[in-house]
Amino acid sequence: MAPGKGILAADESDATAGKRLAMVHLPNDAENRQDFRELLFTAPEIEQYLSGVILYDSSIKNFTDDGVPFPDILTAKGIVPGIKVDLGTTDLQGFKGEVVTQGLDGLTERFAEYYDLGARFAKWRAVITIDDEETPTDECITMNAILLARYAQIAQEAGIVPMVEPEVIYAGDHSIARAEQVTTRTLQILFQTLMNYKVDLEGLILKSSMVLAGDMNNEQSSPEQIANATLRTFHMSVPHEVGGIVFLSGGQTPKRATENLNAIAKLGEQPWPITFSYSRAIEEPVLMTWQGKPENIGEAQKMLLHVAKMNSLASLGQYDESKDSKLK
Ligand code: 13P
Repeated sequence: MAPGKGILAADESDATAGKRLAMVHLPNDAENRQDFRELLFTAPEIEQYLSGVILYDSSIKNFTDDGVPFPDILTAKGIVPGIKVDLGTTDLQGFKGEVVTQGLDGLTERFAEYYDLGARFAKWRAVITIDDEETPTDECITMNAILLARYAQIAQEAGIVPMVEPEVIYAGDHSIARAEQVTTRTLQILFQTLMNYKVDLEGLILKSSMVLAGDMNNEQSSPEQIANATLRTFHMSVPHEVGGIVFLSGGQTPKRATENLNAIAKLGEQPWPITFSYSRAIEEPVLMTWQGKPENIGEAQKMLLHVAKMNSLASLGQYDESKDSKLK
């Protein structure tokens, strides 16, 4: 949570990494996944803007072409390696369209292994979908909150900082008011549950969605509306002891994710440090520049530095759109 720095979420499962590679027509094989991540992690100077990188089981155990483990590359730059430990979602029976997150079995042993590999923080993602007036249900939110609390307890016991991520999904036609209502409810239940289960809130990071209208709603929210709704939500639900709050980009364009973060930071100091933890909004411009071609690696790394710098400025409320022609 260092000022002016953020986190790169490079923690796609192998299947999700394939969706990213498909955007530039590359096959989802281990070599392409390694090449892209090596490009990201070895980019010169990224430590100026990134304090952490979230990895996945296969990438925390992966190496550069020269045989250096990925977490060691990051640690040498002063970037803290993190690890996504949930194993994805499964249907919540009896609750149409709602899901719960799996991955608690064997978590103590997995944390011990990840700690040895260099991980010092972790991520667990719960998925909350807004559909009709009844969805999400309190049953779905509560079940996910309990799983997040159990994961957070086990992480803290292992000496690893838990990042808890209840992602309220942006896709849909809901209004910003409905997103605010659902996000507030989700965070209130989550923090009450974390406290009930005696999770140390000072040693925990919240990874949250921004509060904004669904991508299919005709009335798209302005950065100022999003900033106000998002901070109102946090003030209604996030205890002040919480170590920090980071945002996912959630399918917003890279530029929008940056502008919205900037608008939030412009509202001034809050009880918690707040910054970015983007995956798509950082990786997509880099991927588009790289296109899988070795001769493009240098340019792609410069693009990563640029996107990270713009978001670093945004986290301080200093992003100037008129001086940035690259983010789309
Ligand atoms: P996006 O920034 O692409 O939403 O990903 C962040 C993340 O970690 C989702 O779990």
